[in-house]
Amino acid sequence: METLLLNAKNEGAIDAAAKILKNGGLVAIPTETVYGLAANAFDAKACADIFKAKGRPGDNPLIVHICDMDMLGDIVEEVPEGAKKLAEEFWPGPLTMIMKKSEKIPDVTSAGLPSVAVRFPSHPVAREIIEKAGLPLAAPSANLSGSPSPTTFEHCVHDLMGRVDGIIDGGASSVGVESTIISFAGEKPVLLRPGYVTLEQLRETLGEVEISHAVLEKLEEGEKVLSPGMKYKHYAPKAQVTLIKADSETYVNYVNEHEEEGVFALCFDEEAEKLSVSTVTYGSEFSDEEQAEHIFEALRMIDESGAKRVYAHSPKVTGVGLAVYNRLIRAAGFDVIEL
Ligand code: TXA
Ligand code: MG
Repeated sequence: METLLLNAKNEGAIDAAAKILKNGGLVAIPTETVYGLAANAFDAKACADIFKAKGRPGDNPLIVHICDMDMLGDIVEEVPEGAKKLAEEFWPGPLTMIMKKSEKIPDVTSAGLPSVAVRFPSHPVAREIIEKAGLPLAAPSANLSGSPSPTTFEHCVHDLMGRVDGIIDGGASSVGVESTIISFAGEKPVLLRPGYVTLEQLRETLGEVEISHAVLEKLEEGEKVLSPGMKYKHYAPKAQVTLIKADSETYVNYVNEHEEEGVFALCFDEEAEKLSVSTVTYGSEFSDEEQAEHIFEALRMIDESGAKRVYAHSPKVTGVGLAVYNRLIRAAGFDVIEL
């Protein structure tokens, strides 16, 4: 298939993307979190095509993106009080909420679940495309299933060229990790995936918020999960990755003691010059937001470097750091060393 490459800055590009989407096609679009592979959320065939293009397992539901609160009424049965509060506080922005789905959302979009995930992104290009298409857009991250989420146009081209109708360049995603996901499908609100909107912020607005154990821990074989995406191997580089929980000095000493051919350190900026192995940095030790912005790019660089063995320095697990940790521990296949 031919893939039309567009730049959001060029006249007519957003119209062209919207037209493809209205006609049932697939377009990779920028959002503030990561790029998404978009299609008409009401079109079962178009949504089925997303699964094909990504090689995504059919039981992993899609997030539906809206550009105003009116669109929400068509997608969900009702909006719980807690969701209204969060919408007021954090939408538009990097927060996804799961609610009971309306009949208009096809089963393929929600992967057969009675609930649907909804997000109102803040990225101006994403919003304009949804507006121009006049449709809610189902969009998972625009990577091939299993590889790191794309935070640039180039990442999307690398993964999806020839597999989708269009890719539109809107610059690098500023948040860098996928949206925070909170579910209102059960009795109590549950955090399913940490992101830029932090657990602390959610609790401040809602009071009690549970945290799904799949956020931090490996699932048991065959365990049923609230968020199907949690059970798949994610963001995994080809190299064997170990996550090291230690202070900076201990981490640096440990890695230097394990110097060998093909060994890489995935470390903080401040540590690179103290390490005797090859390094890929993912932001300052003192900024969890910077770490989030760069983590997926860093994982892609590790793959391109041909690294065989990677020692990654663990971020803190508070604030946005929880989101970074959640992605890294999956990249490491839950192999953690505490020093
Ligand atoms: O930031 C983001 O959320 C990006 C951008 C493009 O918006 N999208 C994204 O989509 O990360 P994706 O498909 O890569 O991740 C969606 C996650 C999956 O883990 C999926 O299982 C979960 O959301 N999910 C979607 N609908 C759900 C539902 N009804 N119940 C539980 N989990 C759901
Ligand atoms: Mg994804």
